[in-house]
Parts: sequence; C-alpha cells; structure tokens
Amino acid sequence: MTNKAHTLHWWQRGVVYQIYPRSFKDTTGNGVGDLRGVIDKLDYLNDGTPESLGIDAIWLSPFYPSPMADFGYDVADYCDVDSLFGELATFDKLVAEAHKRDIKIIIDWVPNHSSDQHPWFIESRSSRDNPKRDWYIWRDPKSDGSPPNNWGSFFGGPAWTFDERTGQYYMHQFVKEQPELNWRNPEVKAAMHDVLRFWLERGVDGFRMDVIGLIIKDAQLRDNPPNPDADPNLPPNDLFSRQLQVYNWDQDEVHAELREIRKVLDAYEDRCAIGELWGPLPRWVKYYGEQGEELHMPFNFRLMDDMPWDAGEMRRRVDAMEAALPDFAWPNYVLGNHDRPRLATRFGGQAQARVAAMMLLTLRGTPTVYYGDELGIENVPIPPDKVQDPQGINLGVARTRDVARTPMQWDASPYAGFSEVEPWLPVTDDYRTRNVAVQSDDPTSILNLYQRLLWHRRNTPALHGGSYQALDVETDAGVPASDCFVYARMAEDAQVLVVLNFAGEARALRIPGEGTGKLVLSTHMDRKEPVALSQPLQLRAYEGVIIALE
Ligand code: NOJ
Repeated sequence: MTNKAHTLHWWQRGVVYQIYPRSFKDTTGNGVGDLRGVIDKLDYLNDGTPESLGIDAIWLSPFYPSPMADFGYDVADYCDVDSLFGELATFDKLVAEAHKRDIKIIIDWVPNHSSDQHPWFIESRSSRDNPKRDWYIWRDPKSDGSPPNNWGSFFGGPAWTFDERTGQYYMHQFVKEQPELNWRNPEVKAAMHDVLRFWLERGVDGFRMDVIGLIIKDAQLRDNPPNPDADPNLPPNDLFSRQLQVYNWDQDEVHAELREIRKVLDAYEDRCAIGELWGPLPRWVKYYGEQGEELHMPFNFRLMDDMPWDAGEMRRRVDAMEAALPDFAWPNYVLGNHDRPRLATRFGGQAQARVAAMMLLTLRGTPTVYYGDELGIENVPIPPDKVQDPQGINLGVARTRDVARTPMQWDASPYAGFSEVEPWLPVTDDYRTRNVAVQSDDPTSILNLYQRLLWHRRNTPALHGGSYQALDVETDAGVPASDCFVYARMAEDAQVLVVLNFAGEARALRIPGEGTGKLVLSTHMDRKEPVALSQPLQLRAYEGVIIALE
C-alpha cells in the first residue's frame, strides 16, 4: 500500500517516544522524575535540528494523583497531576512548550480501573445502596464463600477481593488497589468520556488507552477455561496464566464502546486514539473498526512478544501484519515499553539493538521508541529487596518490570545526571559511558544512529509514507539468505532498500534488480558508498544498511 506523504496525519508520519515520567529527569531532588524534567529535556527530543533526537510525539505514562500501587496505573483523580510530578500548570506548560517545538503530546488514559483511593470507589464500597455502588463490579460470594468466578489477576492471586463490611467481592484484574470500573453503567461511561474531554480541552493530541480490550467483560462473568499449555513451573499464585482469557476481555460489545470513545476524540481536530491490545491477529485487527471508526492504532506488540532474534520470523510477522490490515488501517511497531524487558537484552546485545533500531525506524507504519533504548540501555538487575513493581513482588523477581524502568542516563555524574539523590531504581553499571553526553560526542554511538535514522526517515517520503515489500535474497553462493531481512520502501519517485543482517557473521548478498544507488547509512556508522546491485552487497556481522536507489 502506498500513502502519499503529504496526506498523512501527524501520527502516521511521525515517531512516538514513550516517557515513563518517574524515570526521565528529576528536578526536585526526590529521586523520582517529574514533568518539569520532561520540559527541560524537550530540546534533547527535538529542537528542530538534526543535533537532537528528532521524535515527533511524546507518550507520557500516567502522571495523575495516585497511591502508586501500580506506579500511576492506579488513578485516584483522572483530572489532575500528582504532586510528585508537578501540577496542572506544569502539564499545561509542557503542552505549550512541546507544541512550540512541533512535538505532540499523547497521554495515558486508564479507563478499566481506578485506584481504590479514588473518591468514586470510596463511595462505592461505603454501602450496598450507595449511588456509586454499581460504578464498580461487585458480586456476592458463591455459596461456599469463594469468589464469584475463577478469574485470576495479571499480578497473581484471584481477580476478586472480599469486602468484609458490605459482604461482597469486587473485581480487579491487576492489584487489589485497582478496582475495575463498570463500563456497562452509562454514568461511568459518561464520566470517563468527560475525562477525555478534560484533557482534549487542555490541548493533548492523543491517548494511549490502557488495557482497552478489558473494559467490557462477559455479561455473565463466566469462568475462564483452563489453559492446556500453561507452564507447569508457574508460581502457584499465577492463576491468570493457567487460564485461557476468554471471558474477561475482547468481548464483541467492546467495539461499540470504542466507536463512542472515538466520537469523543473526533469532535476535536486531528487527535489520535491508540490502544493497548494484544491477542490473535484477526481479532486484534478488528480494533481499527469496520471502516476505521475505532482506534487509529491498536498497539502492535508482535515484534516484541515471544520474538526470537530471527530474520525469517521477523519478516513473517511483518508480512502477516501487512496482509491482515485493511486499506484504511495504518500499521505501527514497537520494540520496547515499560512492561517488557529492554530490547537490547531481549535481542541479545548492542549489535542486535542497532539492527532492531534500523528495522523499527524503516518499516511502514508509526514506530514507538521507548526512552533509553536510544542509548542501548539493557535490563538493570534489581536486588530482590529493591523490587518495586507489584508484578515482581507477587510473582517473583524474575517477573519484575523494574528492570526496564530505570532512570534515563544523561551524563557521567553520580546517578547519571538523572537526580542529585539516589533514584527510585538504580542506573546501569556502565552509566559513565552509556549516557547522552558521552554518546552525543561519539559519532558512531547508538544515540547518533537513532538520530540519523529519525532524521533520515523524516526527510525521506519513501520511509515515512511509502509502500513496503519484502524481498527474497540469496547469498553470493546462491543459497537463500535466511538470516537476513530485506525490504524495499517505495514512494512515487523513489525507492529505498533496507538490508538487515541478523547473523553474527558476514554475509555477501545478491539483491534482486539491476540498478545503482547509494548506501546512505550503516548501523556501524562508518560507511557511505555507491552501490551497484549487479555486485554482491557485503555486510558485516549484525550490520544493517539503508540504500537509496537512483
Ligand atoms: C498496562 C500497563 O502498561 C501496565 O504497566 C499496567 O500495570 C497495567 N496496564 C494495568 O494498568
């Protein structure tokens, strides 16, 4: 599919950068990042010149008032800023300063659950006949006193907690401090739509909708069936992974909700709806809507989840996505976020992280870059007594998401220039060399690679708006180059080849075609040369290149 670059929306043409506000930059000296810190670093993200990173939009993970049982995904007030992060005026300033630089602001909207400290829940749990009782999901115990159904929580244990005072259970598919809102109640829906309007009026450009597929559950709350493939070594309290997720999410009725949510956004100009959604491709694709009337982009985790470092598998997943998308649907890719191990760790190291960066920023569709991945930050080991994440606390240190939420590394000063005091999570052992200041001065650093890729993408219509076509390539010995992923990106009058060697050995490749061109960028950052397709293309171990064809 080809899209003319000039007809693209900002969220199609641009690159999103995810910031976990606790971990970006601390300006108050408490070891936790804040919104002022994000404002201070906007020029790093994009000052309009290729000396800056060059992203187009920021997605901010939650900054709302919260007891932080799930680090902000437990919201106690949807329409304010936690004092840890600043105040509403700081947020307004952030929007204004970002917009001055042509950076869009996408915020996290957490509609499935609030904090148990939200005034709505405090009222709801106060008595069975409170007008807000039905704003949450309350059910009687079974006759033996056990929970109303067998659902497990993502974070371990049952998805229900018994409230002694009122004698009923409430539902929570995350920690018990995250009671689930009842979206079948029209008042809840209206209140959550108003939350969207509150932020739209303040100028936000889009929303990343947290676990949006969970907002509607089976009307009868039927038991989930057992998962026949469950790993026998799961922690005993991981009831969730022992079940197939049939009735607790992805119900057909959720699509009507998404159409209404989208209408709220469409009353404003050019705002973007992104949703956190997973599941099998045919069901996932439905979240774009029948004609594009639901989400602009369901987040696509397919190149991240259970993804080996394998060129053939990568290509199969990209090709499957391209084939599954209806014409109106715009693809997107993400390789890292605050819930998954760092990409440099998952893919096996720094060399692979560079090839992955080139892939992410040259595929067709909107890329999201997770803060710190541009420095090649790897998982930071967290001592068991320092684990913060409820998932790690409940399900074992091996499952903690803290490893990928550590502070951004700005310079070689103590605590990497993130904070003047010990941060809430540790920095990497190699932070004195793995930081923005050092990497900015090194023309071959991964940070410089990201910058070059981002600016090249922006300036190349074939890369931000062109079509995608995977190519079958052979080595110069005439055998399929199965450990290379090669594709063409084509705009009306230009063609770009992306050639990615996933192997830890050199490869000489015969690229189909006769033309000539120019190798404009290598992941090794040391090569620019003319290319003739009649000659084998020599790639070193874990080298990716971009070739502009003439
Ligand atoms: C998905 C978020 O990305 C994750 O961090 C959070 O714990 C859950 N949703 C619950 O809100």
